[in-house]
Amino acid sequence: MLIDTFGRVATDLRVSLTDRCNLRCTYCMPEEGLQWLAKPDLLTDDEIVRLIRIAVTQLGITEVRFTGGEPLLRPGLVGIVERCAALEPRPQMSLTTNGIGLKRTAQALKAAGLDRVNVSLDTLRPDVFKTLTRRDRHRDVLEGMAAAREAGLTPVKVNSVLMPGLNDDEAPDLLAWAVENDYELRFIEQMPLDAQHGWKRDGMITAGDILQSLRTRFTLTEEGQEERGSAPAERWIVDGGPHTVGVIASVTRPFCAACDRTRLTADGQVRTCLFATEETDLRAALRSDGEDGEDGSDETIARIWKQAMWGKKAGSGLDDPSFLQPSRPMSAIGG
Ligand code: 5AD
Ligand code: SF4
Repeated sequence: MLIDTFGRVATDLRVSLTDRCNLRCTYCMPEEGLQWLAKPDLLTDDEIVRLIRIAVTQLGITEVRFTGGEPLLRPGLVGIVERCAALEPRPQMSLTTNGIGLKRTAQALKAAGLDRVNVSLDTLRPDVFKTLTRRDRHRDVLEGMAAAREAGLTPVKVNSVLMPGLNDDEAPDLLAWAVENDYELRFIEQMPLDAQHGWKRDGMITAGDILQSLRTRFTLTEEGQEERGSAPAERWIVDGGPHTVGVIASVTRPFCAACDRTRLTADGQVRTCLFATEETDLRAALRSDGEDGEDGSDETIARIWKQAMWGKKAGSGLDDPSFLQPSRPMSAIGG
């Protein structure tokens, strides 16, 4: 098991398949993009599947989420999903995507064994989408989501980040639209994970703001704690049900004590937390030739992974005066 000194057990593995993206969301990336990882540094499809196999068969991982950057940009994605679906025990598999290209791949992903998708969409207005993501692709995203729903990659969850002055008036519209389209909407508080280090606590839209805005149009009833478990989203039943809306209050109501995650970057580093400042190199072990005493066996890799998780910190440290934003941005860690 991947257990830490606070007794938390990680059962949910987030795998970043690429740090590249075809959007440039202002809360994530600068206009010009970032210095992308070099091809030789990326794990190969075989290496990724091998690490997931070790995680599932030896470390108690039951859920695998593929992220990016934008994971649909990884050519081998469908094959990776297919090979992971054949593992025993078979993990639950989901994908966090911006939706571009999903129209084309939703059916194949479902056939390969993917269970669900989370699609990011912050606005219903094409012009605001263009300002927020610096790309004119609003329609592609909407079509991608619909294709995912039709393919049975359900429930289709929608992630929205509200930015002051841009889309912070859209919460009720987004919810009405999600209910109508049978999507499960979740708002995420903006976190200090942008490459430009421009995040300010003062400016952010809080869970409190979002709920207040939603309540101008909907009756929200809080779902019980049992349903929440280790899920970061607190959920509310909308107008008596059956639809719900979630709020992921990573900043104002952190859920670190119930965290069940471990993360793998596209270049093979284990991260114990989005906000971790240290990483543990699994790629070196994967590729070791035995000369440095590392034999690269499944057992060795499992041991290094366990050791990394044992050192997981209690929390994100967001509230510490000494908080330092991690040097990798969100796009290189995986959401
Ligand atoms: N704060 C909060 N959410 C973010 N995302 C990307 N960057 C940030 C940030 N700084 C969201 C994306 C996507 C998910 C992976 O994380 O919108 O939905
Ligand atoms: Fe791409 Fe997601 Fe970052 Fe937007 S938030 S630029 S979609 S990685």
